[in-house]
Amino acid sequence: MNILVTGGAGYLGSIMVPKLLVRGHKVRVVDVGYFGVSHLRNLRPGVELIREDVRRYITDKDQSANILEGIDCIIHLAAISNDPSAELNPDLTNQVNFQATAALAEQAKKRNIKFLFSSSCSVYGESPGKVDETGEVNPLTAYAHSKVNSDRFLASIASDTWCPVSLRNGTLYGFSTRMRFDLVINIFSFMSTLYNEIRIFGDGKQWRPFLHVSDCAKAFIHFAECDCNEHLVYNIANQNLRVVDLVRIFKNINPNVKEKYIDSIDKDTRNYNVSTERMLKAGFIPKIDVSLGVEEIVDAITTGAIQDPESIFYRNAKWMKELTQFGDTNHKEFVELMESMARFIISS
Ligand SMILES: NC(=O)c1ccc[n+]([C@@H]2O[C@H](COP(=O)([O-])OP(=O)(O)OC[C@H]3O[C@@H](n4cnc5c(N)ncnc54)[C@H](O)[C@@H]3O)[C@@H](O)[C@H]2O)c1
Repeated sequence: MNILVTGGAGYLGSIMVPKLLVRGHKVRVVDVGYFGVSHLRNLRPGVELIREDVRRYITDKDQSANILEGIDCIIHLAAISNDPSAELNPDLTNQVNFQATAALAEQAKKRNIKFLFSSSCSVYGESPGKVDETGEVNPLTAYAHSKVNSDRFLASIASDTWCPVSLRNGTLYGFSTRMRFDLVINIFSFMSTLYNEIRIFGDGKQWRPFLHVSDCAKAFIHFAECDCNEHLVYNIANQNLRVVDLVRIFKNINPNVKEKYIDSIDKDTRNYNVSTERMLKAGFIPKIDVSLGVEEIVDAITTGAIQDPESIFYRNAKWMKELTQFGDTNHKEFVELMESMARFIISS
């Protein structure tokens, strides 16, 4: 298949794109490059890399036609991709996460192109008990609202002949060639490795569904390749754990780790434990549990494959804040400078 991956240079996309190539797909990546794109350059000529802002497709129909030329399937990952970075500029978040998604989906429907959207389990916000895809959504942040709006829009334009699929992913963890150290398990991995400490904000009793980044990539590929899209929405996760449960896992890997509870005024009230029965019925089984994923990151830090996990380059909100000083479109040179440094920092 010819597959367009938006946001393909991000944490998830960077792991997904090589897997698509191995399976014989041709890949076009569109990414504005907030975190660089050079780590994908070695994958040419299998990958066509286009450094572009997906917001362009909201108004420029000719450009969307160009970008979709010859495409069989769109995997739409491009987003302002966590709560703190989404709060920095809610208008930008709405444009990228919702309006561009809607515009791209409409074009996909017009051309009968398969459309897979990267939604999030955070749409459930604070939900008692186990929640399945028919459960109420309860978005608590600008980020979660943008995902709910997109899921609803996709459902509203679905038809008997064109069925978009939203994968509501759990919180990701694991190694990627574009690393993120602003996701709870990844943060705990570097804190436990460098400082023998993990910090828990609040009582740590809140539930979260977790999923290895590589399993997430495989889930998208599964749905891209199969005709199993019986539903519009699927929860995609491997393990539901409370943050306190992670402590045990980290202590098994590094017995010197101590947990520190921090009483925070900004309490994170998100608490969701999701059912993945639909995903399993559709034939997708995640393989890499939290323990294995943590060991992989710890090894990458201790062997020097990731040398500077504390760099703001790996923290979306801090990095995006830095980039705003360079303006909406003038960030490219600054990112390129950071990228050239990161080439020495991440050697995978
Ligand atoms: N990481 C997680 O835990 C997680 C969990 C659930 C859902 N998701 C969703 O999965 C997707 C990928 O997440 P990720 O962790 O790889 O995030 P990421 O921030 O690493 O990657 C997002 C990519 O999108 C690009 N991008 C941002 N705005 C763009 C724009 N206007 N035009 C073109 N490209 C743009 C960025 O440059 C980046 O490369 C996102 O939609 C995210 O919301 C992620």
